[in-house]
Amino acid sequence: MPNIAILGAQWGDESKGKTTDFLAEKADIVARYQGGDNAGHTIVIGDEKYILHLLPSGILQPHTVNVIGNGVVINLETLFAEINELVARGIEVGGRLKISSRAHLILPYHKIMESWDDLGSGLKIGTTSRGIGPTYVDKMNRHSGIRVADLLEFDLFQKKFDFNLEAKDYVLNQIGGEIDRNALLEKYYEYAQQLAPYVIDTPEFMHREMKSGKQVLFEGAQGTMLDIDFGTYPYVTSSNTTVGAVCTGLGVAPKAIDHVLGVSKAYVTRVGGGPFPTEMPPDLDEEIRRIGEEYGATTQRPRRCGWLDLVALRYATQINGFTGIVLTKFDVLDGLDEIQICVAYQRDGEEVSAFPANLRTLAECEPVYETLPGWKQSTADVRRYEDLPTNAKRYISYVAEFLDVPIVMASVGKDRAQTVICDSDFLSSD
Ligand code: GDP
Ligand code: IMO
Ligand code: MG
Repeated sequence: MPNIAILGAQWGDESKGKTTDFLAEKADIVARYQGGDNAGHTIVIGDEKYILHLLPSGILQPHTVNVIGNGVVINLETLFAEINELVARGIEVGGRLKISSRAHLILPYHKIMESWDDLGSGLKIGTTSRGIGPTYVDKMNRHSGIRVADLLEFDLFQKKFDFNLEAKDYVLNQIGGEIDRNALLEKYYEYAQQLAPYVIDTPEFMHREMKSGKQVLFEGAQGTMLDIDFGTYPYVTSSNTTVGAVCTGLGVAPKAIDHVLGVSKAYVTRVGGGPFPTEMPPDLDEEIRRIGEEYGATTQRPRRCGWLDLVALRYATQINGFTGIVLTKFDVLDGLDEIQICVAYQRDGEEVSAFPANLRTLAECEPVYETLPGWKQSTADVRRYEDLPTNAKRYISYVAEFLDVPIVMASVGKDRAQTVICDSDFLSSD
């Protein structure tokens, strides 16, 4: 199997976790390259359900090695809770997890800084409140960022930690955030001992393994429309979620990526604030949320639902160079008489050619819909492309032709087995 980047083509929660777990059966290494525990990647295998926030979604395929790259921001509390939970459920993690010495740490003050930003600026992004933004700010600031390697040199960690408490003192006091320095230092000393066995030089590891012919899945978090540069700024996350982050977040070269798979729902969802051109009217929004169980895997917030937006998906395809699309949650549309697909945006009666950077412009865009007939039958038990209902195949062809990208897989249910390969060639080519 070729090396495949798997990344969100929409506003996150596209089923990247399920897709990665499925493809990991044939991979050797699964590597996360950006984001942090704002991600919630769900994998369902029979009666067992797992929600992974930091561990790559290969961890449930016992033969794989899983890597957390330098581009990821790590909350150690989440990391160890996740490892302990898996171990308690009989999954071996130990020697199968490698963590970059260059990854930055999310520290308790970052969450406090985040609530200050939310209160002080009057801008409600609706973040996951995991301290992701302030951690990336500290990384870029250089004076205040703390990396895994610093934690392993504990005197260095302590010095940087104290500098941060001093530098952030005003905000911490204003907001009444409780930071017990000594207790935290003790806790982080413990974490350092627990973390040490996992820490490696990830670029060196990735290069050596790929050179020896190991096959890699690069697993993205969030989605293209939440990218710090290309998403609906400022209603985005604080990392690049698009394909370039594979290279910068792991230290691998572009030529290491053979395929770029964009994961997209057969409709769209979004959690948190920000414009959403194809948002459904309230009754349909509610119905799709109910059928699709659209509640956040990290925050349990209801996800807003909309029709598939091919203008946004075309933009995501241009940015990432998708060589294939995975269409997920197909079964959620099973009962609809008709399905709308947004094929253009109009503003003041004129077609808008590029996805608008300006949110005011985006808010003024009217979606232009094409209506396709529904298939009105269950797809949940379909396992082969040829067994999909004719109108479901028509939907797939429509999207593929519009984007000029093949639909390589369709997901028809949450279980690992509920997966339909639409283009078997892509798994064997490179
Ligand atoms: P991720 O963040 O991209 O990994 O996606 P999430 O796990 O946050 O959200 C996807 C949700 O949809 C999870 O609850 C999955 O169990 C569920 N899911 C995944 N694929 C399908 C599918 O094809 N059909 C249905 N009905 N549910 C799915
Ligand atoms: P996965 O990997 C969906 C959204 C938040 C908020 C914005 C910024 O599961 O697809 P942040 O905490 O990152 O600063 O929040 O981004 N967001 C996600 N939405 N799926 C995610 O991850 C998300 N991670 C962040 O809701 O709107
Ligand atoms: Mg998710």
